[in-house]
Amino acid sequence: MNQPFTAATPPMGWNSWNTFYDQIDEKLVMSMVDAICDQGLKDLGYEYIIIDDCWQQKTRNEKGELAADPVKFPHGMKYLADYIHEKGLKFGIYSSCGTKTCANYPASFEHEFQDAKTFARWGVDYLKYDNGHRPLSLRTPELFRRMGMALKCSGRNILFAACQWGQDDVHRWIRSAGAHTFRSTVDITDSWDSIVGIALKQLDMQGFNGPYCFGDMDMLVVGMSGNSVNPEANQGGCTNTEYLTHFALWCMLSSPLIIGCDIRKMSKEAKAILTNQHLIAINQDPEARGCYKVEAFQNPEAFILVKPLSDGDYAIGFFNFSEKKADITLEFWDIGLSVHSGVALDFCDCVEETTISNVTETFTCSVDAHGCKVYRCRLINA
Ligand code: GLA
Repeated sequence: MNQPFTAATPPMGWNSWNTFYDQIDEKLVMSMVDAICDQGLKDLGYEYIIIDDCWQQKTRNEKGELAADPVKFPHGMKYLADYIHEKGLKFGIYSSCGTKTCANYPASFEHEFQDAKTFARWGVDYLKYDNGHRPLSLRTPELFRRMGMALKCSGRNILFAACQWGQDDVHRWIRSAGAHTFRSTVDITDSWDSIVGIALKQLDMQGFNGPYCFGDMDMLVVGMSGNSVNPEANQGGCTNTEYLTHFALWCMLSSPLIIGCDIRKMSKEAKAILTNQHLIAINQDPEARGCYKVEAFQNPEAFILVKPLSDGDYAIGFFNFSEKKADITLEFWDIGLSVHSGVALDFCDCVEETTISNVTETFTCSVDAHGCKVYRCRLINA
């Protein structure tokens, strides 16, 4: 999708870390480039192919520059970038604000301007910038501002994806450091508990989220289903109900949508989730408004999220985090529609693609354990 500005809506793409950890190489990345096109993901807006940690040589080259591991990436990064660009996609790479990356490869501290120029020369369009091994003598805002500045001076438009794990009240200062996205939580794992923990932490943070600087709830685990060589992320997998809830939450909460599974081998169900156009449209809504939470009456483990959309519709999601199927009721009063408003809602189910028309005052839906129902609702005069 061509955006007039970088990250006007949450970035979408694929990242190597969740599934492939340090087992990455040129062939693998090129096969992901092919898959993102062949699986129809590119046409839906997934455009960044991001190589995470472990792409580097263990030491800088004779000019002090970062260099790609010659065994994993025999033709170098420019070659890969050219392949990615030829396919109409964008190229993402990873570094850290510390002396080393989390996996102990050389990182960008005191090399920020040099590295930004190297990345620009290679044709990088997206930099994931991590938080590991950072010098404690400097505050994190200073370290991230440095790379923000270095990218601006690099001569190339590079999306700055800060990965500061939600520490140090990052949401308060990261927008002004020039970042386009900021990791607002700890690392995700392929488990329901991780999804719940991350989502609950974000519900109160929507006011800090918006165009050109989105809270990044970390990469999607949809479709991983325990298939990963990453020992941290591989925590057994989730059910398809849980993966759908995960995707719907990331869409409602305007998180970047960065796929982490092996997109060459997605199950039918995982593909249906990741390619749900109605949910993606909610995530990519041009106004990118945050959503607010409505408590579900007498059900502490259920809640409703409401997100105003740019065409006048509202996305309304019903989420059930409990262990039992539950009826969840929305009182229209809670979203600003009083009994006297004379306004009704049409509820279009984003998954079933069915519509319930002309609803007034309340709406109740039955939601599976760990499940969700997300509707695109149109306001109509009753
Ligand atoms: C940190 C980040 C992860 C990943 C690893 C790589 O843990 O939060 O997303 O990039 O580093 O080492």
